[in-house]
Amino acid sequence: MIRRKLIAGNWKMNKTAAEGVSLAQDIVAAAGKEPSVDVVLCPPFTALESVSRVLEGQAVKLGAQNMHPERSGAFTGEVSAEMLRTLYVTHVILGHSERRTLFGETDDFINRKVVVALAHQMKPILCVGETLAERDAGTTLAVVQRQVEACLRGVKPDQITTVIIAYEPVWAIGTGKTATPEIAEETHEFCRSILAEHFGKRASSSMPILYGGSVKPENTAALMQEKDINGALVGGASLEAKTFSQIVNYR
Ligand code: PGA
Repeated sequence: MIRRKLIAGNWKMNKTAAEGVSLAQDIVAAAGKEPSVDVVLCPPFTALESVSRVLEGQAVKLGAQNMHPERSGAFTGEVSAEMLRTLYVTHVILGHSERRTLFGETDDFINRKVVVALAHQMKPILCVGETLAERDAGTTLAVVQRQVEACLRGVKPDQITTVIIAYEPVWAIGTGKTATPEIAEETHEFCRSILAEHFGKRASSSMPILYGGSVKPENTAALMQEKDINGALVGGASLEAKTFSQIVNYR
């Protein structure tokens, strides 16, 4: 069973390198030396190095928002796993719905990234979730099952427990509409059953499944009370130290 929650801040395309330093410093100060949850900050690529220096020797970890599966080469605008690792990146968000819908990323492409991230000792935060149309059509669980299975294809049993899943209903991202704890829990529980089917009950029960989509200080505690919700991936509310720290210290 997982005891420790994980709260990750996805800054998206916000904060310059200098602004990132100041936000990270404030978050580190508020989190203290021994935060009661794991905390990960995911700045844009251009702020990774400056934020990495702030996080040196701290409990708060560094994540990237994306990564290319190839080692190097003619991939204009892309960043490799090795480039991230040399900046002490420990986590990487993969398959975020904005990558899927705005940049056309497919499950197969995301799967390649997951495999490469693991091979470079980074923990993928694999995002899955249905659109409003899919929810209305009653296909939520089928969509999530397809994404989980396709994106984790080929992941070895000894690596699977380092994968973090983030269930983010697309209709709840940046809209202010959070899934109720019950709605989120239903999908989280289902995700865990799919993971158990493929990777065994023991592995699946130790894998963190985060919820994402309009997480705020006011709704965090109720979401975190659910059995299969092991943390949160926070977008908008991670851009201010005060609100993000309230989420981190939600108890
Ligand atoms: P939000 O974003 O908290 O602003 O809804 C969450 C995410 O996209 O990861």
